[in-house]
Amino acid sequence: MNNALVSPSLNSNIKLDPPLQLGVMASGSGTNFEALAKAIAENKLNAQVKVLIYNNPDAKVRSRAEKWQIPAILIDHRQYKQREALDQKIVATFQEYGVEWVIMAGWMRIATQVLLDGFPDRVINIHPSLLPSFKGIRAIEQALAAGVKITGCTVHKVSLAVDSGEIIMQAAVPILPNDTPDTLHARVQVQEHIILPQAIALAAEI
Ligand code: GAR
Repeated sequence: MNNALVSPSLNSNIKLDPPLQLGVMASGSGTNFEALAKAIAENKLNAQVKVLIYNNPDAKVRSRAEKWQIPAILIDHRQYKQREALDQKIVATFQEYGVEWVIMAGWMRIATQVLLDGFPDRVINIHPSLLPSFKGIRAIEQALAAGVKITGCTVHKVSLAVDSGEIIMQAAVPILPNDTPDTLHARVQVQEHIILPQAIALAAEI
């Protein structure tokens, strides 16, 4: 059991018509990607994941996409000298698949203006801390090192400054005395999987 506070509250089973056309970006395991696919399958989010873009050839998220029969496109950042060129390719790929909203679900690259211009006000990120605390990489380790007793996760709109866009939804997670980065991250992820689909519905309704 997790003691978590989620704000703002939202009815589940929100129906929007027509479905949101989502493009997801992920770099690693992809549990958030899968939580989204599951929420959609369970009618908790009226959306379709049109395509997954991943940047690491060995990322586990690729097999999750296969399982859900969602097209997965590898766009390896190592092939692009400039971040803008990488984002140009990403925008073109999403446009090809009819994507309207972009979800960064564990995407470990910094977005440029090119991506933001491609989907104005429609790029969303999930971050494993209660922003504005612990921006950037290793947010879980940062929270443990700071000795805070509560951390959590944040879904927010993406802006050029890292982890600084408008906050859509947050969930709080207590830090327990014997927590390691792994145990804490696992509990934070339980909450991430709940709030990511809810936050997308909330953002799209506005
Ligand atoms: C998630 O915890 C997400 O919040 C974090 O990466 C993890 C991806 O997990 N994102 C960041 O740290 C972005 N700065 P997943 O691949 O299992 O969804």
